Amino acid sequence: MANRRMFSLDIVNTDKFLEMPMTAQALYFHLGMRADDDGFVASPVSVLRMVGGCKDDLSLLFAKGFVIPFNSGVCVVRHWKSNNYIQSDRYRPAIHVEEKALLTEDRNVYEFAPSTTGVIDSNPVSDLDTRCIQHVSIMDTQVRLELDNPSGRNCPDCGAEIMLYDIPYIGVIGREVECQCVKDQKEQKRLDLVTKGTAIIRKEMREDSGMGKRYQLYTFGRFKRSEGNGAALDAALRFVEDYCAGQAKYGGLMLCGNAGTGKTFLACAIANGLIDRRPIKDDWAEKGCDGWNGYNISSPVTFFGMADLLQRVRSSFNGQGAGENGAELIERAKSAKLLILDDFGAEKISDWVREVVYDIIEFRYQNVLHTVLTTNETPISLKEKYGERIADRVRNMCVTVPMTGKSQRRTAAMPASSEKEAVL
Ligand SMILES: Nc1ncnc2c1ncn2[C@@H]1O[C@H](COP(=O)(O)OP(=O)(O)OP(=O)(O)O)[C@@H](O)[C@H]1O
Ligand SMILES: [Mg+2]
Ligand SMILES: [Zn+2]
Repeated sequence: MANRRMFSLDIVNTDKFLEMPMTAQALYFHLGMRADDDGFVASPVSVLRMVGGCKDDLSLLFAKGFVIPFNSGVCVVRHWKSNNYIQSDRYRPAIHVEEKALLTEDRNVYEFAPSTTGVIDSNPVSDLDTRCIQHVSIMDTQVRLELDNPSGRNCPDCGAEIMLYDIPYIGVIGREVECQCVKDQKEQKRLDLVTKGTAIIRKEMREDSGMGKRYQLYTFGRFKRSEGNGAALDAALRFVEDYCAGQAKYGGLMLCGNAGTGKTFLACAIANGLIDRRPIKDDWAEKGCDGWNGYNISSPVTFFGMADLLQRVRSSFNGQGAGENGAELIERAKSAKLLILDDFGAEKISDWVREVVYDIIEFRYQNVLHTVLTTNETPISLKEKYGERIADRVRNMCVTVPMTGKSQRRTAAMPASSEKEAVL
């Protein structure tokens, strides 16, 4: 195949060509460069992807008659022979013989052969859908050229008149325009799938975060504001906002207070808030309905109860436990994008515990990773428990947020009935 390509000013210097967006013009040149010696391009969609264009560019080239698409997904540059002259000793004939047979040449311009319309038109429309139009990712409405004509028939569902349209270059005549009511139904079905899939993916993220079923229910919406927790609630809400905007310059929060004041609740509300705000693309959600998680969407937050984490690590190192790898657990805590350590300081302190905690805190401190701690301790008692190295880093990393008031464990505790919702 000759590896140089030419473009005739008779084609590319016309208003018809220059009126197109630059992206469509660029696509034309790229298709021209990659066409074989007869102007055929085997996979126009790949070229489209390669140049970062959008499907409208390709549709436009079809619609304006600069490129002719075939059912097979191949296309041909219509003015190829006006653009190019290839010496016979270099010329290699097209391998797309079937497509070529559908064309005639009139003064160096390809057209469908007169009989072709009949040939292609005789294909079932569904065939065209899959083999040509859909194959090149083009919505039929974007390539159709002729104005809608009334068909004289009515939609059996809504009674609206059915219209017809033609796609001259691929020889489709009198194809039915999909009724708006059918489009609306399809869109509604798609939206229902997106909603369902989004809920499934978010549920998986909650499971993946490490929060138990009860904690998965702790959301800002359920958190009751009171005198002792208002400032903490505001700080948590602000943290979520800042974090999502990439502006949480501080390393996190340390929620301090007596038992039952809602520290764990608020930390989980942060986790659930971030999970709920994590964008999920529509097509992920649609696929997520079938339990598909090809994109491996993991939770943006990792939650550990401090005592539980240490217990699991210890069991693993002792060769007991649930077969978890202790080093991997520590690694997970160290490298989580946002780590919640619940009940920090509640564990029985030993040199080993101090080492593990230091390992985690030091790594996160050094790497400026965000951390939310809940603790019954105060900054002073933390220092006594863990020593200065850990306490100083925590104080530097996290804004201390006091939570006061009476224990809500009995008064505001969530009713058992709402726990059922945990199974979402
Ligand atoms: N603001 C609140 N709104 C609704 N329920 C709350 C609130 N604060 C706490 N509760 C309820 O009180 C109970 C204790 O809350 P939580 O576990 O968050 O307390 P804590 O501060 O973490 O306590 P501890 O120090 O013992 O771990 C939970 O059942 C929770 O549902
Ligand atoms: Mg707690
Ligand atoms: Zn209808």
